[in-house]
Amino acid sequence: MPRLSQPHLLGIKNITTEDIELIFETADNFKEVINRPIKKVPSLRDVTIANVFFENSTRTRLSFELAQKRLSADVINFSASTSSVKKGETLLDTVNNILAMKVDMIVMRHASAGAPHFLSRHIKANIINAGDGTHEHPTQALLDAYSIREKLKGVAGKKVAIIGDILHSRVALSNIFALNKLGAEVMVCGPPTLLPKFIGKIGVKVELDLHKALAWCDVANVLRIQLERQQLKYFPSLREYSLYYGINRKTLDTLKKPILLMHPGPINRGVELSSDAADSHHSIILDQVENGVAVRMAVMYLLAGTTS
Ligand code: CP
Repeated sequence: MPRLSQPHLLGIKNITTEDIELIFETADNFKEVINRPIKKVPSLRDVTIANVFFENSTRTRLSFELAQKRLSADVINFSASTSSVKKGETLLDTVNNILAMKVDMIVMRHASAGAPHFLSRHIKANIINAGDGTHEHPTQALLDAYSIREKLKGVAGKKVAIIGDILHSRVALSNIFALNKLGAEVMVCGPPTLLPKFIGKIGVKVELDLHKALAWCDVANVLRIQLERQQLKYFPSLREYSLYYGINRKTLDTLKKPILLMHPGPINRGVELSSDAADSHHSIILDQVENGVAVRMAVMYLLAGTTS
């Protein structure tokens, strides 16, 4: 039975290209399964998975839970806001108590960068990073690259512009690592205050002009302004941000070329994307969500049973 070469999915930086290709090939099979009238397979029967979320989520949590149910796993859900974390329990105590209930795999989202890496040094269960602070969001990058592969018949050689708040985005970093490994050309575009200083050193082009970035790319992956993570004022107003970096249907149509519009969600409609762009024929935003279930099924299937 094929397996990933490591027992955890902590990030894209340290995963092999072969592992990514294996995830995609496995996701192709699961995508076929979830489009059947009977969407369930027994692949993870007798595997118990805990979704441990210390931060809010809609897509990632529901997508993992549905993927687990499609694979016939037993699922428990933990939300920090209604848990004994509120009484002072530590991350490690919380997870060790969950594992004492004979849980095999932990899917965790946490506000602190490195939290899943810390856990991986202390526990035996498989760990999947569902987003750690501003660091990485590996399954988002996998489903994004999978969606590009599906729509453009491959990722190598494609030009992908990641647009918006790169500084606070775990999606941007994981996408850059994944796209570089798969042979795409990657550009980041945004106001200088929202681009990390080192960014040009990790294999991406840097462009401050949105219209030049859109003219260059085959795919525009647009990111949300993460106001909840911003400690400083990085631009004068949302209105001004939208004027310079917001994308509407007219912006896309005047390019007079095919372009894929992506967004990891949640969208700030009227800020980075207008509704007429988000809901246009250019957009594959809901295809990304559909593919997320198949990709997460593949990741969990390929990790199960890989710990000692
Ligand atoms: N894309 C993403 O991570 O969305 P959620 O925060 O809703 O999970």
